Amino acid sequence: MPKSIVAGIGFYVPKNVVTNHDLEERIDTSDEWIQERTGIQERRFITRFEETTGTIGAKAARVAIERAGLEPKDIDFLICATLSSDYFFPGSGVIIQRELGINKLGIGCLDVRNQCSGFVYALSIADQYIRSGMYKNILVVGAEVHSTGVDFTNRGRDVCVIFGDGAGAVVLQPTEDPHRGILGTKLHADGEFAEKLAMINPGSHSGVHIGEEGYGFDHDDPLSHLYLTQAMYDNDLIYPTMEGQFVFRMAVMKFPEVIKEVLDEHGYTSQDIDLLVPHQANLRISQFVQKRMKLRDDQVINNIHKYGNTTAASIPIALCEAWEDGRVQEGDLICLAAFGSGFTWASALMRW
Ligand code: ACO
Repeated sequence: MPKSIVAGIGFYVPKNVVTNHDLEERIDTSDEWIQERTGIQERRFITRFEETTGTIGAKAARVAIERAGLEPKDIDFLICATLSSDYFFPGSGVIIQRELGINKLGIGCLDVRNQCSGFVYALSIADQYIRSGMYKNILVVGAEVHSTGVDFTNRGRDVCVIFGDGAGAVVLQPTEDPHRGILGTKLHADGEFAEKLAMINPGSHSGVHIGEEGYGFDHDDPLSHLYLTQAMYDNDLIYPTMEGQFVFRMAVMKFPEVIKEVLDEHGYTSQDIDLLVPHQANLRISQFVQKRMKLRDDQVINNIHKYGNTTAASIPIALCEAWEDGRVQEGDLICLAAFGSGFTWASALMRW
């Protein structure tokens, strides 16, 4: 059975740099608070009315495809991981396909909605298709636009300072080389905490899991609209929310667990890792994981200071930057790990 290798990798971040000082002008925050709590110095925001999750995803994809020595028409399956698709539905996979000019080829497009761990889930799915021989050139994209959906008022300041926009992509191909490729992936979730880090609306819940307070549902009209109501706007219930400290505690527990799990299965220890690419959730989380796993600085990639948390895009962006900087060499043992909303968490281990 063939293994999967990353044949090409690319990323794209929008040109608009937004510093912590820029945010200070809009909300009651400070560069010091943000850097101390998250390590973030600046992030990128899309050009409004011009760029979308689909368009930036396609830009990253073009780089990955070219570096794989391919053209868009060679892609035979596409997977897009994002929590911020262009539309509520369809997902951004088909938008990326269209942006790449390959929609008439009719290749399958799959959207993965697993938030921060979406890229590792997507990679795992692609890996299974490659191993089974079903596809030969799978494009896996992680793309995210947060800047148009978070709450830039003091009420949303704990969330809006953390997130940024960006996209990363890889092309996966089969290899018969026994010394290279994805060794394994581990995927986990626990729905008990679904609302701890979530954007509840628009949705089909009609208050079932969380009560109806503030939603203004019309019980007298059996056909009234429930996904979005005027009350949701009026009561500011249309933004992502997060129980930050709870998320932090879970993340620092699950990251090391899932990294160790994939290492154990393949007979490695953390000392064997050449590069750990953690989802760039928060520098403090990554530092905690590094310490817990007893990893040196050169074994862990951090770039959250430049881009903020770009959820599903953060791992391919960080991996691509590391590759461009020469920190990823053929034969290196690379571990990807993520934790996020759901909660979901996941890891992947590969020989580059
Ligand atoms: N600027 C200034 N003050 C702020 C801001 C802000 N942007 N946001 C919140 N505060 C205030 C709060 O209102 C609070 O004030 P109070 O003491 O007067 O009530 C104070 O700062 C402390 O608030 P806490 O929520 O206790 O702050 P904490 O130290 O926990 O830091 C943070 C918040 C950064 C969100 C932290 O909980 C954290 O790192 N959580 C992990 C979650 C995370 O990283 N999520 C990333 C996305 S999820 C993922 O990718 C896995």
